[in-house]
Amino acid sequence: MQDHLTVIKHPLVQHKLTIMRERDTPTVVFRQLLREISQLLAYEVTDKLPMTTKTIETPMQEMDAPTLAGRKLALISILRAGNGLLDGMLELIPSARVGFVGLYRDEKTLKPVQYYFKVPDLLDQRLVIVVDPMLATGNSSAAAVSLLKEAGARDIRFLCLLAAPEGVARMKEAHPDVPIVTAALDEKLNDVGYILPGLGDAGDRMFGTK
Ligand code: URA
Repeated sequence: MQDHLTVIKHPLVQHKLTIMRERDTPTVVFRQLLREISQLLAYEVTDKLPMTTKTIETPMQEMDAPTLAGRKLALISILRAGNGLLDGMLELIPSARVGFVGLYRDEKTLKPVQYYFKVPDLLDQRLVIVVDPMLATGNSSAAAVSLLKEAGARDIRFLCLLAAPEGVARMKEAHPDVPIVTAALDEKLNDVGYILPGLGDAGDRMFGTK
């Protein structure tokens, strides 16, 4: 994975994303589409994982067959909306280790403050995939990646559904070594940090809250 930003233009991804953006798409459909799209994005973000071979026996003969090398991946969900991407990814990568980062925005400083941090061990030896559907200002994403680096992570990729140019720029400035995979690069943020045209509040839409 070389480019800092990869936008997945696959027709299935784009079709599902359009339905998710629509205001009247119900929670149950939104959630199902997020699960499906996360698997298509997971396919891309796990491209070029290190491989090895092992000797197996098919019913016909012995062969050296390809298999993943190295430690299990770590999937890190940024709470709470990250969990919507996590479920589908775990269906595709069931042996992945899972971590959670919780951040809230301090009303006075406007800076992200950590309230929860629980991640797998040996992060320095794993591919770490951080998931959060909306890369908006990039402040919480950049802070989460900094915390993961402090915890030892070296090989990090960031997976989101929608990205704003502001968030991509913030991540590039703070973490140029972290490639971003997304389904769309939208136009801009509004004055309260929502992505335009976007899809609204991803957490509210997936959990049916307001
Ligand atoms: N978080 C969301 O859920 N939606 C946005 O548009 C921006 C941040």
